[in-house]
Amino acid sequence: MTDRPNLRVDGDRLWATLMETARFGATEKGGVRRLTLSPEDGAVRDWFRAACEAAGMRVSVDTLGNMFALRPGRDMAKPPLGFGSHLDTQPTGGKFDGILGTLAALEVVRTLNEAGIETEVPLCVCNWTNEEGSRFVPALMGSLAHVGDFTVEDILSRTDAAGITAGAALEAIGYRGAMPVGTQAFGGFVELHIEQGPLLEAEGTTIGVVERGQGIVWYDGRITGFESHAGSTPMHLRRDALAALSELVLAVEGLAVEHGPDAVGTVGEAAIATPSRNVIPGAIAFSAEFRSPDATILETLERGLAAKIAEIAARRRVEIALDPVWRKAPTAFDPGVVAAVRGAAQALGLSHRPIVSGAAHDAFSLAAIVPAAMIFVPCKDGVSHNELESAEKSDCAAGADVLLHTVLALAGG
Ligand code: GLV
Ligand code: MN
Ligand code: MN
Ligand code: MN
Repeated sequence: MTDRPNLRVDGDRLWATLMETARFGATEKGGVRRLTLSPEDGAVRDWFRAACEAAGMRVSVDTLGNMFALRPGRDMAKPPLGFGSHLDTQPTGGKFDGILGTLAALEVVRTLNEAGIETEVPLCVCNWTNEEGSRFVPALMGSLAHVGDFTVEDILSRTDAAGITAGAALEAIGYRGAMPVGTQAFGGFVELHIEQGPLLEAEGTTIGVVERGQGIVWYDGRITGFESHAGSTPMHLRRDALAALSELVLAVEGLAVEHGPDAVGTVGEAAIATPSRNVIPGAIAFSAEFRSPDATILETLERGLAAKIAEIAARRRVEIALDPVWRKAPTAFDPGVVAAVRGAAQALGLSHRPIVSGAAHDAFSLAAIVPAAMIFVPCKDGVSHNELESAEKSDCAAGADVLLHTVLALAGG
């Protein structure tokens, strides 16, 4: 703990900003649809930029729309400590995934301003472009380009389902900035996020001290069978792409269960090319993913799926193509930053436990180049990527307090 043990964020103000920003892309069911680089994303970015400037920060935008709000420190020769998260959401997302971390970072700056505290190293509140990956692949797009995993040209040419490029979408909302990607330096990075899983709530623990993150593999797949008449084609002559996909979905599920509990597998998208109730499906596009904190398990899952696919394709006389479109190795966070998070939770008297992140986060990207870690708070029933996603005001405030004291410890309050 720093020498300011009684300093706390304003939990009511943080909550008010969460509710205010939930208007941008609000859905009828109380969730948020704010796809990356959509007009709604543009609107919340404008709000965020204005709020950061009102808090005395200078906002820079790089050529992929990553936003960096800088609060000066006593030693401007030192690279800033980064904190924040993302403002985009899933197509049917909630009010907390991502934006809690960004708004909590803003709240920390507001709290420091009011208390008249200048840190030794500068602070940089971040909004990373396209964390979710539901409109453009990969997820963590902005932060992965920042750390050099993808080139800017590659990312700008990625297309969404309507054929719009990321570059055109950035231009359309006015967030193709001037700053070259990767030039914002950091001395470290801390991200607050809802857990998006059930452990903290089930245990009644307030703070997850995130030590590791799961590795991920994402695939795009296609199955090609043969369209024919649903009434007159005997069962043994069919080459049904949907029946083949059904087996593949169960294979993904079965492999993850077999190699659990530290493995998950999902088929989240599937589209019959020309659906009709009396045509046997002949072509299907789908996505699949596996995640595990253990790289060896991930490899086993990948090999297992390849073998299963070969078997299904041969038996059903269909073609199955499966292309890996993104791989992210498991993340080990920095012991020093993890210790700072744990120390802050302890000093604040908050219950805490070590935890592994099942969801992907921009802190995974940053961990490749600077010491990084994360703070989790509970969410209702562990539900996220759902309009019903919900979190308690007191937990959000507790997470932001841990962020505040972690930042003071690392940035020299
Ligand atoms: C993004 O939210 C992911 O974890 O897939
Ligand atoms: Mn998120
Ligand atoms: Mn998400
Ligand atoms: Mn995520």
